[in-house]
Amino acid sequence: MRREGLYLTREEEKILAGEDGAPAQKAMEILVALGDIYEAERMIDVKSAHVSSVSFKGSGMAGMRFIENLAMDGATFKVPTSLNPLSIDIEKWKDLGFEEQIVNNQFRMIKAYESMGGISLFSCTPQLLGAAPIFREHIAWAESSALNYANSVIGARTNREGGISALASGIVGRTPLYGYHLDKNRIGQVLVNVEAELKTPSDYAALGYYTGQIVGEKNPVFKGIPKSVGAIELKSLSAALASSGAVALYHIVGITPEALTLEQALHKSQSEEQITFGKNELKRTYEKLSTATDEEVDYVAVGCPHYTVNEIQTVAQILKGKKVHNGVNLWIYTSPQVKVIASRMGLTEIIERAGGKIVCGNCMVLTYTEKFNFKNMATDSAKAAHYCPGFCKLNVHFGTLESCIGSAIAGKWRENK
Ligand code: F3S
Repeated sequence: MRREGLYLTREEEKILAGEDGAPAQKAMEILVALGDIYEAERMIDVKSAHVSSVSFKGSGMAGMRFIENLAMDGATFKVPTSLNPLSIDIEKWKDLGFEEQIVNNQFRMIKAYESMGGISLFSCTPQLLGAAPIFREHIAWAESSALNYANSVIGARTNREGGISALASGIVGRTPLYGYHLDKNRIGQVLVNVEAELKTPSDYAALGYYTGQIVGEKNPVFKGIPKSVGAIELKSLSAALASSGAVALYHIVGITPEALTLEQALHKSQSEEQITFGKNELKRTYEKLSTATDEEVDYVAVGCPHYTVNEIQTVAQILKGKKVHNGVNLWIYTSPQVKVIASRMGLTEIIERAGGKIVCGNCMVLTYTEKFNFKNMATDSAKAAHYCPGFCKLNVHFGTLESCIGSAIAGKWRENK
C-alpha cells in the first residue's frame, strides 16, 4: 500500500507495481512524484497528450536513447498522443543540407515514437490540425504555445507539461489533479487594458510579449480586444505570452469561454493588479524584440508557431510574380499536413518560383539554422525573436508578415506597419 497523500485507485496501484509492464510503471512513478510535489489529491483521466521532446536538437543523444529504450521495452500510448516539431525538415532535409548523422538520429527518434503509437503531426499547432480538445476536457500537453491556446481559447484543462510528464501521461492516460485542472487556479489575476489598436498577428504577439514580461506565470485578463480577433492572432498571442513569461492561461473578456464577462473571468473578485497596453507599449515592444542593428537581412523566417494555410496564402499573394532577393533565404515553417494542402492549392509552387521555401515538420528555434551561417533574421514571431538570438546566434528584425516578406524581396529590412 502507498503512504498517505496522493490517492491511487486499485488500477493505478497495479500500474505502479509494474503489472502493466515496465514503461507504464516508470510513467506512473513520474506522475506520482509530480502529484506528491504538487499535493494532488488524486489522478484524473486525460483525453490526449502532446509531447514536446521530439526534436533531436532539443533532446540530444540522451533523450534519443531514453525514447528508444522505452519503445524497446514495449511502451505504447494509451490516449492519442501527438508529436511536436523536429529539428529537420521531414521532406527536404537532403536539399537543405542537414548533416546525415543528425538526420539519422532524428529518424531514430521518430521511429521510436511511432512504434509507441505517437501521432506524427510534427507540429506545434495540434489544436489546428485535428487534435483539438473540447471545452473542459482534461489533457496533458507540452509545447507552451499550444497548451496556452488549449487552456485559454478552447477552455480545455492542462498544466504546463514538460516533455517527460506529457509522455508519461500519454502512456498511462492519467495526470495528477492539480494546477490548471482546478477551478481555483483558473481565475484571472491581472487585468490588462488594451488601448492600442491591434491590426496584425504580430501586434498580438507584441501584446503577449509585453504582458508575459510583467505577469510572469499569473493569469492575465485582456479587456479591449476587438471581437474580430481570430485563431491566427490568438496563436501569436498564446506563443508570445509563454515566451517572455510563463503564462499557461489567459482570458479575453467577451471572447474566450471562461470570460464571457469580466466578473466571470475574475470569479467575482478583484484583479490583483492592472496594466495598460497602449500605443507606446506596442511601439516599444517592437523595438525591444528587434536586436539587429543594421538593415541587412539574409534569413526571413515566418511560421513560429507553424503557419496555417491562410497565412501561407497571404505569403503567396505577396510573392506572386516577384523574386526573393539574391542571398536571402526565405523559409516558411509549417506542418507536413498544411504543406500538402498548400502544394495542392499551388501555393508551394508560387513561393518556390519566387525563391522561397516552405519547410515542414521542423521548429524554427530547434532546427540547425546556425549551421547555415545566417546572420540577420526577419520574423513576425515574438517567440522566435525572443529565442533565436541565443539559440541560433541571430540578430533579429521583428515585424509584420508583410514587413518580413517585403524584406525578403528587398534584401533589406522594410518596415510595413
Ligand atoms: Fe513551434 Fe518551435 Fe516556434 S515548436 S512555436 S516553431 S519555437
